[in-house]
Formats: sequence, structure tokens, C-alpha cells
Amino acid sequence: MSLPFEPSRIRACVFDAYGTLLDFASAVAGERAVLGERADPLNALWRRKQLEYTWLRALMRRHADFRRVTADALDHALAALGIADPALRERLLAAYDRLDPYPEVPATLERLAARGLRLAILSNGTQEMLASGVESAGLGAWLEAVLSVEEVGVFKPAPEVYLLASRRLGLAAREIAFLSANAWDAHGAASFGFHAIRVDRDGTPAERLPGALAAEIPSLAELPALLGHGA
Ligand code: LAC
Repeated sequence: MSLPFEPSRIRACVFDAYGTLLDFASAVAGERAVLGERADPLNALWRRKQLEYTWLRALMRRHADFRRVTADALDHALAALGIADPALRERLLAAYDRLDPYPEVPATLERLAARGLRLAILSNGTQEMLASGVESAGLGAWLEAVLSVEEVGVFKPAPEVYLLASRRLGLAAREIAFLSANAWDAHGAASFGFHAIRVDRDGTPAERLPGALAAEIPSLAELPALLGHGA
């Protein structure tokens, strides 16, 4: 049974990175002039394969880090679309290390931090990918911790991953709000025991997965008010 969501008891917000704080579509968007109408299918297939490979590797117990999985997924997606361009491949992978933040993200983190909430990232990304992404997006000042699944050697939504955040912050799961635009990740976090809030930027239907979500918001701009820190 899920615990009642009491915003006043939340001590920390833990954020997913890719798709939640960092806009993975900005990598392919930077190559739109080269890719033309293949840009959107490439972006969608790259992301879908990247996630599938994380889940499949977890089931196969054949972990490889997210940089490798991201490159493998891109290679599949490029091949599927008949694109053979090694220089483009390298540029896309390099761009993944300096993705744009979603527009509302810096101001939201600043406001939450100013209200005394502890803020962290918990992501499939490697420590190196995340450090680079956080720096280029200019988010470092507000984040107490940037946690990578590499510390536990398995991808989300394995419960060990969410436990890592609870342990490292020294907080009970019920004191943590977990934010993800990846609905399956929000369900994984809810199933573990976090108050999971889905950021639904696209208005996609609810997933039929275990773990009751605490709330759904259309963007992170609504998070401060949801937690009782509105203007
Ligand atoms: C992450 C992926 C799931 O940042 O977006 O963990």
C-alpha cells in the first residue's frame, strides 16, 4: 500500500536526468540540417533502443555502462534508417554529453534549493556523462549529489538503484520525492517506496505498471507549488 503524499514531509527531490532535466532530443536537433525528415525517427528509435538495451541487459545480467548502451542503440538506429556517416555518429555521441536542459529546469531547481530542499540526480548515465551534462546545462550549483547506477551495476528500474539514493541522502524513502518524465521510471521509484511524481510533457496515457504515483505534473515548473513552495 502506498503512503499518503504529504508534501511537508519531503526533504529531498531526486531527479531522473535524461528526458527529465536534460532534453535528449537536443542532440539530434542539432543535426536537423543534415538529417532532414529522418531527424525525428532517428531520435525516437535511438531513445527506444537505448532504454530497451538497459532493460534487456539487466534481465540478461550482462551490464555495460550507459555510454556503451547509448552508442550501441545509436548504431542500431542509424543502421535501421540506412544512415552510414561515421562523423555524424561521433557528433551525436559527443552532443549527448552536453544536452540542453528543459527550459523550466534551472529556475525550478533554484527555487527548490532556496526553500531548503535537498536536490540530487539519480540516473542510468555514467558519472562522467552526468558530470559533463550537469556542467554544460549549468545545474551544478543546486545539486547536492549526482548519483549514477554504475555504483550498483544495474539499470533502472531495479530497486537497488532507488535504494542507492535513499542511502546516500540518509533519508527514508517516504522523505524523498522522485521526479521522472519516464513513466516506467516513476513507477519503479513508486514501487520502491518513493513518492514518485511523473512529469508528463507529452500528455501520454498512464502506464499500467505497479507502483502508485503520488502526482502527475505537465512540467517541472509545477513542482514547487505541488510541494507547497509556490510563489
Ligand atoms: C536516466 C534515464 C532513464 O537518466 O533517462 O536514468
